[in-house]
Amino acid sequence: MAAKNQDFRDALALAFQREELPLPEDGETYALLEAQALPGSGIAWKDIFQCEQGFRPLHIELAQKGYQTEKHIDLSSKGLGGIVVLPNRSRAINEINITRAWNGLRKGGFMVFAADNKAGVKSLRKWVATKAEIAGDFSKHHAVVFWITKKGDNWPLHVEQTEVGPYKIGPGMFSADGPDAGSILLASHFDQRIRGKVADFGAGWGFLAGELLAKSDQIESMELHEANWSALQAAKQNVPSDITSFHWTDITSEAPRDPFDWIVMNPPFHSARAAEPELGAKFIEAAAKALPQGGRLLMVANRNLPYERTLNDMFRKVVQLDDAGGFKVIEAMR
Ligand SMILES: C[S@@+](CC[C@H](N)C(=O)[O-])C[C@H]1O[C@@H](n2cnc3c(N)ncnc32)[C@H](O)[C@@H]1O
Repeated sequence: MAAKNQDFRDALALAFQREELPLPEDGETYALLEAQALPGSGIAWKDIFQCEQGFRPLHIELAQKGYQTEKHIDLSSKGLGGIVVLPNRSRAINEINITRAWNGLRKGGFMVFAADNKAGVKSLRKWVATKAEIAGDFSKHHAVVFWITKKGDNWPLHVEQTEVGPYKIGPGMFSADGPDAGSILLASHFDQRIRGKVADFGAGWGFLAGELLAKSDQIESMELHEANWSALQAAKQNVPSDITSFHWTDITSEAPRDPFDWIVMNPPFHSARAAEPELGAKFIEAAAKALPQGGRLLMVANRNLPYERTLNDMFRKVVQLDDAGGFKVIEAMR
């Protein structure tokens, strides 16, 4: 019987172990998109894959485990013999990655996709089947693995952006359709009080930083810290200013320690893989460590998330400024 926590990664490993998919020839490597560490299987995964992982915590984990990892690989002229695509929560990103993979293969090379059944893989497989013949597939560990072999031309690559006011937002980012209701509520509390050295932890595509710069001319510097590399690239376009700087940061393990006057944030409560409410608490702790005495945190959260204890442990004064639409806005002073 399968061990409880086996998933699409084990199913993928099986495709190589059963030799349904070839390992690379000597001197060649495959690409692994949305890379995650693969299970022990007797195959030297670290030697055969060049990983792409734009989410900083997973990128750090892969590097620590000895994988060669980049935040983005230009696949367009690679002509690889094999590319493995692991799932993103966003269907649009999965389609983009599969298209990038197809275009990055040489003729006869294969693209393999593996995902848990609950990740919508069946409908994605149908979409792929409209573009190329499925060369093989199987289900195992509540997951589906399927692959296609490159024949014919490259596919057109469409990356659709949503435009909302001055902001351009790409697929797969937080609030990809437009500003989040909680972030809008938080921004309604921005004014000239917010001054000096400011940071936005988990800055996404730049909404809070953009609104803040529009509402306060008292800001000396604004650091945007974000783990999602694509969102950070969008933020660079969305918040152009001489006083902004952009940092690809895992706030839970490498938050800045410089003293800020203010930190604003709408912290995540979801990791790349699962709901994780303690993630928000880690953001609050990181903010507290980066604020000197008198420094202030202004944040928003879903009203049912239990952050008060962490806030009261880490800050001298905690005030709820607003409670509306299922969100609470909190100001806390060190
Ligand atoms: C709730 S969203 C807020 C985004 C943006 N500030 C806004 O208001 O639209 C939280 C953001 O935190 C980012 N994030 C998640 N985990 C992170 C981590 N460990 N370090 C830094 N950022 C992270 C997510 O990618 C996401 O963009």
